[in-house]
Amino acid sequence: MATEVFAPAKINLTLHVTGQRSDGYHLLDSLVVFADFGDRLRVTPASEMSITVTGPFAEGVPLDQRNLCWRAAELFGETVSIELEKNLPHAAGIGGGSSDAAAVISAMEQIFDRAIQGDPLTLGADVPVCAVGKAVRMQGIGDQLGLCHFPPLCAVLVNPGVLVPTPLVFQGLTSKENPGMGALPQPDVPSDVWDWLVAQRNDLQAPAIAAQPVIGGVLEGLSGLAGVRLARMSGSGATCFGIFEHAEFAKRAAQHIQKAHPDWWVRAVQLS
Ligand code: C5P
Repeated sequence: MATEVFAPAKINLTLHVTGQRSDGYHLLDSLVVFADFGDRLRVTPASEMSITVTGPFAEGVPLDQRNLCWRAAELFGETVSIELEKNLPHAAGIGGGSSDAAAVISAMEQIFDRAIQGDPLTLGADVPVCAVGKAVRMQGIGDQLGLCHFPPLCAVLVNPGVLVPTPLVFQGLTSKENPGMGALPQPDVPSDVWDWLVAQRNDLQAPAIAAQPVIGGVLEGLSGLAGVRLARMSGSGATCFGIFEHAEFAKRAAQHIQKAHPDWWVRAVQLS
């Protein structure tokens, strides 16, 4: 019997680089939330592995071991057929592949009625956080996760269709010794939440803009729209988000940006 799962877009509301390990991986401190928009998957037990991909971003998605979904199933240790509806742009800083892999693991845990034995972190640094699927503080290289309460936010996601290789963005960091974020805000004090959020950063934003200046243009465009409280890049880019006071502002902003840039990927979403 097929099991259907949702793989939401992952958004790093904040991303501080706090250090670097001897193996080159960077230590992070990031508040991660998830959109009500993402990929959809159907996972069915089968005698051999297979993946089919449909949807607006199906082109270029590998249909073999190079696909993180496939490797997630292998790590689980059973064969399944995976039908993936790819609604999220890939290599875009919003965890598409990682969220798909986490969704496959979740589906297989339901189907085979057991927990995964292997470590999802070995699939990619963002897979464990995507398995949580709700507001979470991520530290270390993605291995230290702590659930946190955070009010739902109205947002617009914008991807200008450029690729920024993650290793290149990390290499472009000038400082790798930023202090941690300190305590997370309390959910019942919304004004403090805003102040706190605006005061944080994404340390990967500057090197990503240096690699792909159009990201700076996206952020400037978002910052100038009615009702926007914050514009920032997610992950290592190139997707940026604007946080809006109300869903209506976000909806209008999305329409405005899409009209001005028909070739960009633009979505009004709720983050939680
Ligand atoms: O885990 P992921 O495949 O996204 O990482 C891609 C590359 O980004 C790594 O090979 C590494 O160069 C860099 N990276 C890093 N520190 C992290 C995550 C990724 O330096 N915490």
